[in-house]
Amino acid sequence: MRAVRAGLIGFGSVGRRLLLELYSHPLVRGRVEVGYILSSRGGVRGGLDEALRLAGRDEKLDNHSEFMESLGYRDILGDVELAFIAIPPSYAEGEPNLTMYSELLGRGVSIITADKTGLALRYSTLTGLAERMKAYIGYRATVAAGIPAIDAARGLRGRRIREVRAVLNATTNYILGFVEKGLSLSEAIRRAVEERLAEPDPRIDVEGWDAAAKIAILSSTLGYEASIRDVDRRPLTELGEEEIREAAGRGFRAKYIAEAHPAEKELKVYPTLLEADNPLARTESNENTIIFSLEEEGEVLLSGPVGPAWRTAKTMITDLIEYLEWRSRIQTPVA
Ligand SMILES: NC(=O)c1ccc[n+]([C@@H]2O[C@H](COP(=O)([O-])OP(=O)(O)OC[C@H]3O[C@@H](n4cnc5c(N)ncnc54)[C@H](OP(=O)(O)O)[C@@H]3O)[C@@H](O)[C@H]2O)c1
Repeated sequence: MRAVRAGLIGFGSVGRRLLLELYSHPLVRGRVEVGYILSSRGGVRGGLDEALRLAGRDEKLDNHSEFMESLGYRDILGDVELAFIAIPPSYAEGEPNLTMYSELLGRGVSIITADKTGLALRYSTLTGLAERMKAYIGYRATVAAGIPAIDAARGLRGRRIREVRAVLNATTNYILGFVEKGLSLSEAIRRAVEERLAEPDPRIDVEGWDAAAKIAILSSTLGYEASIRDVDRRPLTELGEEEIREAAGRGFRAKYIAEAHPAEKELKVYPTLLEADNPLARTESNENTIIFSLEEEGEVLLSGPVGPAWRTAKTMITDLIEYLEWRSRIQTPVA
């Protein structure tokens, strides 16, 4: 079967690692041909050797404007069958992300995305559009990239879910850990940005946008559609530094929790103090933990390391493997 013609939209930390994976991973190497690489100020058509060199050095495209041209995602419609998307989220406005998703899917282009915006705001609109256009959407990297959170939620569809309770934002784990060690909250947030543990705009983590997007996507994946706008968001700063340190002295851990009662469409994200033996409290800085509580059946617990960019890129390769299987199924004529 011919190689998949693809575009890579976003050449930041995740996009660069993904490009390296696409050309080195033994299960996908040679099966995808990246025809375009786009960043916010243009892109490259072909030019793959140079892009691979830049990705290897973890360098941006626009440091090398000599081989960039004025290109946007609309220029790749009609020429690619798959788009990898690794652009920053836009939860408040939704744009330009939502229009990009609609136009790509509307032209039958399949999507593998690390960006949560589309599915956090318009889950059924986008999945419905994909179905009508016979396109695929892979989004394992949007929730707890590195552990099979989306697979677990899919595997629980049809069960009666009483509650989902989770630590889904590793950045707040780091920030709270710094505070326990004596930094003020504002110093801890600054340090997380400097060490690139937080999004460049730390409000995405600290005000709960990131965790809210993830719990909404999990709920929708379980079959209970929710939007980030349904989530009651409390900021991390609702807990005081002294309260966090004093609680740590008594064996409690501060954590930023994402919680859903999917059937009632009650979703919230908030900081709280947990007893040290609670599995959510034991979530280390680079980890996420999710507890699915089922009516009459007990709990399903998933925990493990998530992010950073390299692990996120590997998670997108899992989607790509599923996409390749899906593509060969839909292209094989029934005898
Ligand atoms: N980093 C992680 O570990 C991780 C984990 C899971 C999910 N994610 C999600 O993955 C996405 C990418 O994260 P990242 O860390 O790679 O971000 P990043 O380093 O900030 O890179 C973002 C890239 O997107 C480009 N871009 C911005 N707007 C664009 C547009 N309209 N069209 C085309 N390209 C555009 C940027 O171009 P310029 O360089 O020109 O600005 C940059 O190349 C985010 O949504 C993030 O939430 C990240």
